[in-house]
Amino acid sequence: MKVDGRPYRTIWLGPDGTTVQAIDQTLLPHRFAIRDLRRMEDAEHAIRTMIVRGAPLIGATAAYGMALAMATDPSDPALARAYSVLLAARPTAVNLRWALDDLRARLAALPPSDRRDAAYRRAAEICDEDAEICRRIGEHGLAEIKRLKPRGERLNALTHCNAGWLATVDWGTALAPIYQAHDAGIPIHVWVDETRPRNQGASLTAWELGEHGVPHTVIADNAGGHLMQRDKVDFCIVGTDRTTRRGDVCNKIGTYLKALAARDNGVPFYVGLPYPTIDWTIEDGHRDIPIEERDARELSRISGRNESGEMVSIDVLPENSPAANPAFDVTPARLVTALITERGVCSADEAGLLSLYPERARAA
Ligand code: MRU
Repeated sequence: MKVDGRPYRTIWLGPDGTTVQAIDQTLLPHRFAIRDLRRMEDAEHAIRTMIVRGAPLIGATAAYGMALAMATDPSDPALARAYSVLLAARPTAVNLRWALDDLRARLAALPPSDRRDAAYRRAAEICDEDAEICRRIGEHGLAEIKRLKPRGERLNALTHCNAGWLATVDWGTALAPIYQAHDAGIPIHVWVDETRPRNQGASLTAWELGEHGVPHTVIADNAGGHLMQRDKVDFCIVGTDRTTRRGDVCNKIGTYLKALAARDNGVPFYVGLPYPTIDWTIEDGHRDIPIEERDARELSRISGRNESGEMVSIDVLPENSPAANPAFDVTPARLVTALITERGVCSADEAGLLSLYPERARAA
């Protein structure tokens, strides 16, 4: 997608052929800066501190993290160490494990001298594949939303967190159909949940929609239900960090409340996802997905730009009040209207997913 008219991906290989470069998302929307990742530890740090974030981009960064590790030391112990260090960087997004399993299996089968180049090649392929998958999610999602009857003059979507191109390598998952609708000339407007505590909606989704010229309005997280009651939302669309075999959707904290409000108001609730986000090993998302508990300071402090243009961080809680910060929640499949994947649109249940991914059926 474009920034200031220039096409960018979120992560790419730098001109020296070893250093990886990524957009630093902790500085957006106020500053657009590129970070150099020179060592595996830089990739781990970028994932852990959310310089890069969003399930597909976390997977792509982990793949490059393995390549950076192999550039320094392609031995078996270094491969095992890179795998475990990167895997521990963030617990919820299953794309992380998917990318690391993929790289480890390929690299372990090669002699150490071949691992560096093979790792860089595979990381680049994962990035290209992610961009293409997201483009296809956009196509399938567009066909789906074209069927909706707008309640007003334009189609009003509501999204939570950031599942746009910044959360992926390009295009986005939830936002891909919105970009394609906008590009096709369909009048569309997006209600953007601010998404406390880290404000990925207010700072990232609003920024990228604005850069692409998509009409949008940022709302407080608590406003969505009210807007749905007033017929101001035609559909909700979100991304996911892990979706189970039976279609339970783990996504940024607050997603579940939007799904409840959508159900109560007859508003379709869609989830856009690429295949690496499906965790075929588990069924019950509520029981089986470990939820990342993040630093309470994400809640107690808020950061932004002051009137002098400096980035500042301020306290919003009483000094002694404890805060809890679960970063994700699980929306049960029954509240999801449909899943939109690169292979098409399906019901949020095992039968629906298997209709698109028959190779995942369990042997009888
Ligand atoms: O904690 P984050 O910012 O990495 O959260 C992930 C997300 O961006 C969202 O949950 C998103 O909707 C799913 S990733 C396409």
